[in-house]
Amino acid sequence: MTDNNTNHDNGGAEDRDRVIGTPSSADDDAIIAAEEDQHPEHEGAYPAEETQKHSEEVQRRGEKVAALWFVLAFLAGIGFFVAYFAFPPNAEGEPAIANPQTGQYSNMALGGTLTVALFAIGAGMTVWARKVMPHYEVSSPYDELPSPAEEKSSFGDFFMKGANESGLTKRPLMRRTMLAAMLPLGLAPLVLLRDTGPLPGDKLKHTMWRKGMRMVVEGGTGEGDDQWIRAEDLANEPGGMITALPYAEPTEEHPEGLSLDEKAKAVVLLIRMPQDSWGERMKEENGKRLDWTQDGIVAYSKICTHVGCPAALYERDTHRILCPCHQSTFDAANAAEVVFGPAHRPLPQLPLSVDDEGYLVADGDFDTAVGPTFWDAERGE
Ligand code: FES
Repeated sequence: MTDNNTNHDNGGAEDRDRVIGTPSSADDDAIIAAEEDQHPEHEGAYPAEETQKHSEEVQRRGEKVAALWFVLAFLAGIGFFVAYFAFPPNAEGEPAIANPQTGQYSNMALGGTLTVALFAIGAGMTVWARKVMPHYEVSSPYDELPSPAEEKSSFGDFFMKGANESGLTKRPLMRRTMLAAMLPLGLAPLVLLRDTGPLPGDKLKHTMWRKGMRMVVEGGTGEGDDQWIRAEDLANEPGGMITALPYAEPTEEHPEGLSLDEKAKAVVLLIRMPQDSWGERMKEENGKRLDWTQDGIVAYSKICTHVGCPAALYERDTHRILCPCHQSTFDAANAAEVVFGPAHRPLPQLPLSVDDEGYLVADGDFDTAVGPTFWDAERGE
């Protein structure tokens, strides 16, 4: 709808077509001018408006209170170390926290001192922000990225201005106590790392297999006793495969000769197959791997190289070892190469031999590390 009745005298075509209720062009100009007055155009950030600056006396008092909190944090941080070393291992070398009661006290002391240290640092910083730093309200236009060169070059000045105004450079008492408060907390994780135990060294790359160590089948005698293995025992094995462990003399600590850990790492699959079944990889490097077999028997680690399940299934006709967890499949006739599934590398092979009495023995440790994980990463796989 247009207003054709009220503006006859002016007679302009523009006025005749103007929609009722819209401002005239003169009004438009006035509105734009008012907006420009309110938000004048300018380059860079708007000047900061200081809304609150504390008197020197208030700032000094704030500095002292903040410093007191930081000193408390420092003392609590030192207390944390004292609490850690206050519970040494007992005469047998067992950690003190192995005793549940002592462990409870140790946890309370460590947790308590850490809580106080963190709280005191937070409180000190709050006092610093509220009583020492000036308060500004700053608004800035949403600039195009990247920043212009002069803005980049002024960043250092801007940073130093902020540091000065925050009191960090001007108030040495507060700065020094704050750094002192943070030092013990920075070192605390290093001390706690000690509790993760001694470094493993190359233990993860080796098992207990040694040259000349006999192999046993657990409970293989039928009366619950372990049985040493001869090569011919596998000829009578219908599946052509048995699971074996290293034989170790019983000790007081391990009446069965081996700890569960050692068993888990050293367990092997012994597989017998016709000599003409061997694949190409067995013949590489002058048949080194064939030398590690004995009367057609080959030994592989039973720990899957994917994520460590026991690769316990064997198909005699195809010589495939199958891990039931995620179906990784290894070719027993060809150095346990992966033929299917998510495993990255073959099962490690154990060199075999026989001793004077005709029992199967290891001729050394596995050719590569047993199981999954970090050694794959090491190889960049
Ligand atoms: S653990 Fe063997 S395939 Fe995953």
